[in-house]
Amino acid sequence: MIADFAIIHCAMLIAFAVSMAYPTHGDEWWNASNLASASRHYYFSRFLFLSLLFPIVFFLSGLYTHVRSYPTTTKLERFSAVVLLSLTVFIAVNYLLIQHANPIGRSVSLTFGGVALAGLVGIRIGKEWLIGREGTGAKGKSKTPEQGTVLVIGGAGYIGCCLVERLIREGKRVRVLDNAVYGLEPIQNLLNHPNLEYVYGDCRNIQDVVKALHQVSSIVHLAAIVGDPACELDHRTTIEINYAATRMLIEVAKGCGVERLLFASSCSVYGATDELMDENSAVQPVSLYGDTKVSSERALLESATANFHPVIMRFATVFGLSNRPRFDLVVNLLSAKAKQEGRITIFNGQQWRPFIHVRDLADAIALLLSAPLSAVSREIFNVGDNHLNCTLADVAEVIRRVLPQARIEHRENADRRNYRVDFTKIKNRVGFRCQYALEDGVREIQAALDSNEIGDYRDIRFSNLGFLRETGTPENKSEFDAAVMAAFGGERWASHISA
Ligand SMILES: NC(=O)c1ccc[n+]([C@@H]2O[C@H](COP(=O)([O-])OP(=O)(O)OC[C@H]3O[C@@H](n4cnc5c(N)ncnc54)[C@H](O)[C@@H]3O)[C@@H](O)[C@H]2O)c1
Repeated sequence: MIADFAIIHCAMLIAFAVSMAYPTHGDEWWNASNLASASRHYYFSRFLFLSLLFPIVFFLSGLYTHVRSYPTTTKLERFSAVVLLSLTVFIAVNYLLIQHANPIGRSVSLTFGGVALAGLVGIRIGKEWLIGREGTGAKGKSKTPEQGTVLVIGGAGYIGCCLVERLIREGKRVRVLDNAVYGLEPIQNLLNHPNLEYVYGDCRNIQDVVKALHQVSSIVHLAAIVGDPACELDHRTTIEINYAATRMLIEVAKGCGVERLLFASSCSVYGATDELMDENSAVQPVSLYGDTKVSSERALLESATANFHPVIMRFATVFGLSNRPRFDLVVNLLSAKAKQEGRITIFNGQQWRPFIHVRDLADAIALLLSAPLSAVSREIFNVGDNHLNCTLADVAEVIRRVLPQARIEHRENADRRNYRVDFTKIKNRVGFRCQYALEDGVREIQAALDSNEIGDYRDIRFSNLGFLRETGTPENKSEFDAAVMAAFGGERWASHISA
């Protein structure tokens, strides 16, 4: 703010100096001495107006608050637009209010506008450059994620492998902790990369977790038994991995000085409702999967301190291809079925779901990882985009557009999940918007099946439920781990476990 103040005043003084050196006014009254005295009078009488107008417009436009957490290019675009707006307001007010002996003519306005714009935007570009070069965050003092390793727990999964690739491309050092339930193939291409370290381990095993946390500044916790039906297979394992392990992770992460923990929750915590749900809406999970997410969220938010910053991410339902394709997700499954079998059945077509492409999701997580802590700490974010709230019948229509020969049948069943979600917060706080539409995902799957890149989409590798039913859920390896998990799981889970 102080720099902005100085730039505005310097720009005005430079503009007056230039107009005196190169007068353009035809009226004789505007000789150099009159101009000098009119400028002096103007400057001192409008000192307050000049000092306050710009900070007020900047503040109202969010430049001193949420725009600070935007990605650099978006931030500079927004900033340039707001500076132009402030200059327009300034010039308009001058012309409207000061009719007589107004020294702010065209030449002064142009010089002032040019110098102010260059100075105000230039100083931001310089600041961004310094931040990028020195790896120091906006707050300077606090340790930033760029300085330490990012630990991705569950980094070999559908979302994880896409995120890991994204972070490595950005130049981050990444460690993956994953017990490779579905294999390591998804990150095989990165295993020799100098910025990737893979730690084979179970997030329920305290030794594995401590080892993985060495010199880590941020964690993205994705590991879970994922999906309602997969969680129903084995309640004990689900509770251990999806809830008790999160509680243990919180304690170890705090002990190791981790600054930021991003937790993968789900928009399915909103359950069945006709309302538009935002982050303040009541949660009403309709499954054990949703229960474990809500309980983990609460444990995380309660654990926040001045040095430990949890961030809750409620993901929309994901679609699209990653190195670990999943065909147990509605858009992917219906696209593959329509392509291979020429017909699909839509159950409960009027139910709403929010969707997000897996690569957009990786971008959103990367943004939340690098956003200033002041913008994200202790916050819940629905992760998606308002224009990707669709009914299942809408999904069918998109598939029909891409694959017109597919036959679509509509039916009803007992699944009552129905939620439409508001994603304004993540857009406003970190400038996140989805780049991919449903149609992109459907086409991607069609192309992968056409080129035989995937093979049979019904292979159990592509379905969490199918795979875990066949191979069994990943049991704890030792009695000690089971005891630790029971301790973190707490009393409230006893009924679930004995059920
Ligand atoms: N895919 C979606 O549509 C979606 C939607 C909302 C939320 N989420 C959440 O996002 C996260 C990632 O989902 P995904 O689709 O990538 O799932 P996924 O099943 O593909 O990946 C999960 C990963 O976690 C690992 N893992 C499981 N148990 C582990 C353990 N005990 N220790 C270490 N690693 C373990 C698995 O090996 C796998 O690599 C999950 O927390 C999920 O609940 C996903």
